[in-house]
Amino acid sequence: MLLTSSQVSVVLSASIVFVFTVVLFLSGYVLQQRTVHSLQAAIKPRLPKPLLAPQPMSPPTLDVKWARPIGSRPEANDILQQFMTEQALNWNRLGYAQVVREHVELCSAIMLLAELHKMRSPAKRLLLFPRAWLQNSDENHEDSELITTKRLLRTAVRRHGVTLMPMETIVDSADDTLPSSYSLASLYSLTNYERIIYLQGPGTLLDASALDSLLAFSKSEPMAAYPATPERKDLSISLLLIHPSEEDYGRLKQLRASQPMTDLDLFRKAFAAPESLISEWSLSEGNVVYESQKLRDAIEGFNATVFEEATTYVHFSDPEIPGPEYDLPFYERQALRPKNDEAGSAWSKLYEGFRQRRMEVCGLDLEYWTKPMLARSANGARGNEKAEPEL
Ligand SMILES: *[C@@H]1O[C@H](CO)[C@@H](O)[C@H](O)[C@H]1NC(C)=O
Repeated sequence: MLLTSSQVSVVLSASIVFVFTVVLFLSGYVLQQRTVHSLQAAIKPRLPKPLLAPQPMSPPTLDVKWARPIGSRPEANDILQQFMTEQALNWNRLGYAQVVREHVELCSAIMLLAELHKMRSPAKRLLLFPRAWLQNSDENHEDSELITTKRLLRTAVRRHGVTLMPMETIVDSADDTLPSSYSLASLYSLTNYERIIYLQGPGTLLDASALDSLLAFSKSEPMAAYPATPERKDLSISLLLIHPSEEDYGRLKQLRASQPMTDLDLFRKAFAAPESLISEWSLSEGNVVYESQKLRDAIEGFNATVFEEATTYVHFSDPEIPGPEYDLPFYERQALRPKNDEAGSAWSKLYEGFRQRRMEVCGLDLEYWTKPMLARSANGARGNEKAEPEL
């Protein structure tokens, strides 16, 4: 059958209308999807960037060249891969943990967890502290230290989404009032979690996403510790990535019960290096853990901006200072400040930033501190490396 020209034009205009409708619909759909995606992106926790492919690594120094992250951001076609990995991840089984054994350490631990919260890390934030602190005592007779502790624990839960994990002494029926009765080994009792990152405090977190990547994309192994030196002969406790298990918890408890020892010695005895160290390529993105005292070795050309961009976590470790939570007379602080101008300003910014956040997060001023001669007790009270009870 032949169509008349008017019929042809009707069919033609009908198809044109149809095509335009489809095009309109599609463009509207695409626009809407984009809006939905950007809305989703705005409200969901930030995705960690995937780890870079294995690369040879040079030891971290303060060389300007090293102070730049190696490699580049992932290409667009990596995003799908990342999306699939993220779907398979259960962030409820990944966490950051802080372990406090005495009151003076509590604020710094909460500050670190608060930073993770602020940087929108999707992992859980866990705070381990002596169960003895929760014992009900007569409110009228509680000392001011315990009152502050209870206030800080409440703040941690309410404002920073921290999960409280009361811990037992590492050796059964040890004196639960002594900081030395508690151990980092208690991290292994958290068997509800697949992987946990522990950071040694006090410190300042500059970039949570690098740690989220490490947490998300690592294999579960009993222990992956930050190496003590670039030669990778010993583990340190500045950063631990662990897979908790009953088996390792029991083994560590037994080992610790055999004789008093520091956590560092305990972990070095229980886990062999270099097998129990974080892989070289996981650390190849820049300074994952940076010791603040190293800023004094800064060489000509050190750039504070580049340093901050390439650094994930700074551990305060200037040996003359008991910690960033202690007040230091101005001239003493000036004497310790790195001589290199740029490094000096990065150093002062770290300490000053810590002081400000301590006030914001804990409502606490710096602790009183006088001469180095008297600082021994303050130093000892930190208890990080102490195993022997004070007699
Ligand atoms: C440090 O590096 C940044 C970024 O590369 C640059 O913009 C800045 O000028 C540098 N600062 C100095 C003092 O060289």
